[in-house]
Amino acid sequence: MTKRPFLVIAVDGGAASGKSSTSRELARRFNLLHVDTGAHYRAVALACHRAGIDPHDLEGLRDFLRRLRLGARVDGHESLVCLDDGEPPRLEDLRSEAVNAIVSGFAAEPLVRQSVKAYQRGQVELARSRGFSGIIMDGRDIGTVILPDADLKIFLTADEATRQKRRELEGASETVSDRDRKDSSRATAPLKPASDAVIIDNSSLSLDEVVDRVAGLFPDNLRPS
Ligand code: DC
Repeated sequence: MTKRPFLVIAVDGGAASGKSSTSRELARRFNLLHVDTGAHYRAVALACHRAGIDPHDLEGLRDFLRRLRLGARVDGHESLVCLDDGEPPRLEDLRSEAVNAIVSGFAAEPLVRQSVKAYQRGQVELARSRGFSGIIMDGRDIGTVILPDADLKIFLTADEATRQKRRELEGASETVSDRDRKDSSRATAPLKPASDAVIIDNSSLSLDEVVDRVAGLFPDNLRPS
């Protein structure tokens, strides 16, 4: 029996670079499972915040992470991270100012990155087992660390003014340059393109144009019908 083709796509980029919108639309068009890994760090930061865990208290953090169980709920083409109660946190909690203020600190902590790595890699099997034609995972280190063997790696960029405007439309007060500085300067898995990533600047492209451009890069033998 020949195995069904299964496409693995890694999408990385800075704050408000269009990763999630592009990945979500590609997932919808090509029956892929979309995994937003920023939500994983946000969920961990939210759980720690609620439990009063400080990212610098490494003993407390280690102990908390050991007990934290991340689950997944598939909703359409989205894989939603769930916390211990088995429910996905509300989007307004994941994207709250409180979480915005602390998430980069947690994401820079190797203990946190280590604890989400297996969960993120496990999403590939989840997508296969649910009959998707592939997976599209977006974040900062997907092509470099989480899925280094991905069939296609995209690194999205846009000029700072464009990204700042997008962020403000979302209601976030932090500047994209501040967020990127924190995410690029950390020692573990910093934001940077994989050497084999295709870099797409989408400053003056519509969402459809970016999606078409990425779809044009799918390897022929793995192209979902
Ligand atoms: O994309 P976002 O704003 O939801 O990401 C939240 C934070 O998590 C941000 O500080 C970057 C970090 N992050 C990361 O370090 N690695 C990823 N793969 C995804 C997000």
